[in-house]
Amino acid sequence: MATTKTHKATIRVQRYNPDVDQKPHFQDFQLDVGPDTTILDALEEIKGEQDGTVTFRRSCRHAICGSCAMNINGTNMLVCNQRVEEVMDGNNQISVKPLPYLPIIKDMVVDRTSFWEQYMRVKPWLIPPDNIPEKEFRMSQEEVKALNDAEQCIMCGACYSACSVIGMNKTYIGPHALLKASLRVLDPRDSGTNERLLEISGNDGAYRCHTVFNCIDACPKGLNPTAAIETLRKLAIKRSSYVKARKERQKTLNDPIKN
Ligand code: FES
Repeated sequence: MATTKTHKATIRVQRYNPDVDQKPHFQDFQLDVGPDTTILDALEEIKGEQDGTVTFRRSCRHAICGSCAMNINGTNMLVCNQRVEEVMDGNNQISVKPLPYLPIIKDMVVDRTSFWEQYMRVKPWLIPPDNIPEKEFRMSQEEVKALNDAEQCIMCGACYSACSVIGMNKTYIGPHALLKASLRVLDPRDSGTNERLLEISGNDGAYRCHTVFNCIDACPKGLNPTAAIETLRKLAIKRSSYVKARKERQKTLNDPIKN
């Protein structure tokens, strides 16, 4: 069913083509928006009907793939999950910019190399114990709950590029990777606990966080990377005893769960 258009909106899009532009500048586009028009809908309409050179990433349109994160009116968000009307100012205007602190490839497309490099530092995959039991691994409800936050992260980069520490120092591991590190450190099936805690204990790890909470404000999934970083700090302090306890827990991973 066609959506009723109710407002004329001005979408101020930051443009930057490094081949021809000295620096980024804004270009205004006018279009009709309705109550259900998302910012991604507006950008698609601009690209399809007004200027085909406007460049941005998107894929799923359902807040799952994480590719459409941009900076809207100064706040990082997923544009497929945000209605234009909810963020318009009194002049029916919104500004659309790329994620901050990352090199711009073109318009809203940024170079995420540092984001992925930091992610790989924490070895975000499961490292199973040497003796994998013949039966399935069993985890308690409490253990599953502890992993829940980090599992829901879609790696959109909103937290990473909202982090003021990243703005100053790209060697910081970053809230996204530390959240994923916590997923593995808390997972009783994982046997990379010692090396992960050592990695996040370095100068560019969990202790570099300034606890400004920008990552929490920016996360479109309502997750809490700051709490994960705090958990990692506590576990890093008692690393030896935690690693020992992990090894003990793995001896019973295929036993029936007693809740
Ligand atoms: S297009 Fe996939 S999260 Fe927005």
